[in-house]
Amino acid sequence: MALIAPSLLAADFGRLREEVASVEAAGADWIHLDIMDGHFVPNLTIGPEVVAALRPYTQLPFDVHLMLEKPEDFIIPFARAGADWISVHAEACTHLHRVINQIREAGCRPAVALNPATSLRALDYILEDVDMVLLMTVNPGFGGQSFIPSMVAKIRDLAGMVKNRGKEILIEVDGGINAENAAAVCRAGAGVLVAGSAVFGSADRRAALQALRKAALQGARERPAASACPAYEKGDG
Ligand code: DX5
Ligand code: ZN
Repeated sequence: MALIAPSLLAADFGRLREEVASVEAAGADWIHLDIMDGHFVPNLTIGPEVVAALRPYTQLPFDVHLMLEKPEDFIIPFARAGADWISVHAEACTHLHRVINQIREAGCRPAVALNPATSLRALDYILEDVDMVLLMTVNPGFGGQSFIPSMVAKIRDLAGMVKNRGKEILIEVDGGINAENAAAVCRAGAGVLVAGSAVFGSADRRAALQALRKAALQGARERPAASACPAYEKGDG
């Protein structure tokens, strides 16, 4: 079973503590936090203080997605705020290898994020140093956008690259994920599904998470053996 990470970008920002509790109670695996600076992406969201303020109210891992220029300046503040995972965009890092090392040295799990049009070749000399790759399946900056269908082939290609390296590296997909496309992305090799609108836009968060899980499980079962990644599967249906 894939991991489901509801994105707080689609939550009610006036009630973040309750929103986190509601998706934890509904069965979420991680909390995805979108950090935007108004430069790398044309939108602004929250900083480390808000992440730290939420940290006492959930046991779930915090999956912090930095959509920032100069993310190296913010690794320590987000690690101190309680991030478990930190994703940085390859497009935003002049010294990507150094930033990935900074994340690990700060005690967090490092991930590299790629925009939809960025080639997987950007991962050639960094894949072995990360624990996860975040593939954007919309252009970053806003929730509620439509999934870009050509990203299914990119997920499949990345799953092949990961398998060839022989190291366990999670594939996270982010943007426009819902119960209609969750099977396709999991069939292609995704192991972590970020979902904002599909979870927080639903009055019944438990039902929304269950629908995503059911579709993800179906996709994972249909995954060709050549790209199967059993280590990523929870197996609890
Ligand atoms: C977009 C963010 C995503 C987004 C997902 O820049 O990285 O995490 O909030 O939201 P939905 O699921 O609504 O596309
Ligand atoms: Zn995100």
